[in-house]
Amino acid sequence: MKKEEQPYTPRMTSSIVVALCLSLPALCLAVSSLIVPPIRPNGEEAAAIFIPGASLKGEAYLKTAVAIQRASQLRLWVALTGNYTFDTPNPLELPLAVDNAIAQLQHAGMKGDNFTGIAHSLGGVFLSAYAKHSKLKAIVLLGSYLPKDTSLKDYPVPVMTLSGELDGQARITRIAVEYEKLLEIIKTPGAAYRTPVINMPGVSHAQFGSGPMPPTVTKYDLPPEVTEDQAHQLIGQHVSNFLTVTFNGPTPAAVQAAKTSITHSITDSGLRFEVRGTGK
Ligand SMILES: *[C@@H]1O[C@H](CO)[C@@H](O)[C@H](O)[C@H]1NC(C)=O
Ligand SMILES: *[C@@H]1O[C@H](CO)[C@@H](O)[C@H](O)[C@H]1NC(C)=O
Repeated sequence: MKKEEQPYTPRMTSSIVVALCLSLPALCLAVSSLIVPPIRPNGEEAAAIFIPGASLKGEAYLKTAVAIQRASQLRLWVALTGNYTFDTPNPLELPLAVDNAIAQLQHAGMKGDNFTGIAHSLGGVFLSAYAKHSKLKAIVLLGSYLPKDTSLKDYPVPVMTLSGELDGQARITRIAVEYEKLLEIIKTPGAAYRTPVINMPGVSHAQFGSGPMPPTVTKYDLPPEVTEDQAHQLIGQHVSNFLTVTFNGPTPAAVQAAKTSITHSITDSGLRFEVRGTGK
């Protein structure tokens, strides 16, 4: 097995969960969501529905989610899905978790259907498969990526691939493959905003969330060069730009600023992919 594919050894855990859920469905009814209401009193609404990485609780993404809310000019709702069997997202429970999140968001007062899925690590593997036919209008992959043979152009909804330079699991060498896919279509109008691939300097795999990380993360991750708060601020800014462009609001000026920022970030990421991504 290639080094860069190590993050997803928890796939085995996931097949155990699937087997377990099929034989004992009652075990799989525990998935739930924690709703974080918007911090802005009014305006255009959207929601970010988080899917955790393997062996991680939904709550591990609260700080990340709040950073996105602070950065965004949208009236952004958040649902942190969690309580998957073994705290590990899997293809059987993920649809239940997203449906539950949507129902709870609506119950809490969210208007409209501007739903975005945001997943970390292994969660992204299942989210990207699920979101091809779902109510989600866009997805964000944190320290995660689409399958190698999936083209960005043909993926049915907008997808942001957001990576850390010092991610020891979703390694920059693997994300460089996604970046190459982006460069192939970068001249197509809108492609850079629809499927941005961005790398953040000094950020590790653990810093997409917060709190204690499972042993597979601590074993393979690299020491970060930014603080957790700095990492969350960067994530907040990048995800906010993507949501602003995807939902085309709240103002034309905000959309234009987000587009400029995404273009700049893609160019800036190229420097790191060149140095580290090709192993030079
Ligand atoms: C998980 O379940 C516990 C116990 O019911 C609950 O307190 C917590 O909010 C749930 N977490 C999420 C992310 O849904
Ligand atoms: C959802 O996003 C669309 C643009 O995609 C926007 O026009 C609309 O106002 C948003 N919905 C709500 C309820 O704010």
